[in-house]
Amino acid sequence: MLIPEENEALCRVGPGTLMGKLMREYWVPALLSSEVPAPDSDPLRVLILGEQLIAFRDTGGQVGLIQNNCPHRGASLFFGRNEESGLRCVYHGWKFSVDGTCVDMPNEPAESDFKHKVRAVAYPTRERGGIVWAYLGPRSTPPPLPSFEGNMLPEDEGQVTAIQRECNWFQGLEGDIDTSHFSFLHAGSMDVSTQQPGTFSYYMLADRAPRYSVVDTDFGTMYGAYRETDDGRRYWRVANFLFPFWTMPPQGMLGHKITARGWVPMDDTHTMFYMAGPRFRRAAAPAGPWNRMQPNTTNWLGRFRLTANASNDYMIDREKQRRNSAMDDFTGIQGIHLQDQAITESEGPLYDRSSEHLASSDMMIIRVRRRLMMAAHALAEQGLTPPGVDDPEVFGARAGGVFLPREAEWLAATEDLRRGFVKHPELDSSITGPLV
Ligand code: FES
Ligand SMILES: [Fe+2]
Repeated sequence: MLIPEENEALCRVGPGTLMGKLMREYWVPALLSSEVPAPDSDPLRVLILGEQLIAFRDTGGQVGLIQNNCPHRGASLFFGRNEESGLRCVYHGWKFSVDGTCVDMPNEPAESDFKHKVRAVAYPTRERGGIVWAYLGPRSTPPPLPSFEGNMLPEDEGQVTAIQRECNWFQGLEGDIDTSHFSFLHAGSMDVSTQQPGTFSYYMLADRAPRYSVVDTDFGTMYGAYRETDDGRRYWRVANFLFPFWTMPPQGMLGHKITARGWVPMDDTHTMFYMAGPRFRRAAAPAGPWNRMQPNTTNWLGRFRLTANASNDYMIDREKQRRNSAMDDFTGIQGIHLQDQAITESEGPLYDRSSEHLASSDMMIIRVRRRLMMAAHALAEQGLTPPGVDDPEVFGARAGGVFLPREAEWLAATEDLRRGFVKHPELDSSITGPLV
């Protein structure tokens, strides 16, 4: 458990907060490139780390991320005219370029040099793999972008998804580093007899209480969770937490899997979940009303919301839940993403961890909290740069599942498979089975 003061320090991310300062050391995904699709297209309201910003793509194609309130007298630049390489406030016509420079002040005399004294807060951006990254930190020259393999694929191979979650960012992240819930929340109705013996899916259901090993790494924290197999080996699931809010879950095959998942705080009670990886080859879940998106609106919180949400109890089907014999029946909620969404939002907008009871299966969660807090305190009190900020290549890591000999030391035995940007055509993906 965390006492309320620790919980607040871990969860709150606005300007000046302990965790907010830590996150501002890193590049963060701010929006999708497709949200500002063309030069001079409509400005967009973006809420990130508790800051209200306006994104716009200028005439030359650069993406600006500028303070919402015009530096003159505070009119929202959302209503601005995006024209001729800048965003012009419609109140008195002041115009700002993507770097926040005031390039025109037409309501002042021509001889006035006041426009040179005014500057809007504007954050540097970079686009890569469909994501507009932003640097909200203190350096005048930002650090390099983190080398996430899933965000560095050729354009026709990569895909990025964004879905809003209506709760604090750390609740979403905790769900991703908590391997033991899979066999319940997602597969609690499934009997081991439904799975092909010898596959990852089979062992996930044969043993629902794996043993864990957790280690700190140069990118954050990693766990290996293992289950004994029938033939004297071990099925290891390896997963990563990467600073400051990324995960690589253990589904799929270690050596093939390259997807990165980011839990980017919009504010303290809303999170934009980004998933960057290879293009989906098959639908993740059968299409239905439960996995549709609402149309985006221009509101601060109007982006990437699911149709199934708390207001309709995530379209839970109690008949399915009573039947309890097939995938999704354990909850009666359709699909893995929606099950995670429902359950982490159900903890409340910002869960008070002073009343939780952590068990041995929560070892990874405990270690990640500690690692984040130690890095945040080291930054605040000693000015220590947090892990990976200046070492982008540490984010080129991988996670996933693997069979190892029983006596193998898992860290050494998986070292090659955990290294990014290496192809492993020799690995046979069919041993995962359909569940993982
Ligand atoms: S408030 Fe924007 S130009 Fe006056
Ligand atoms: Fe899950």
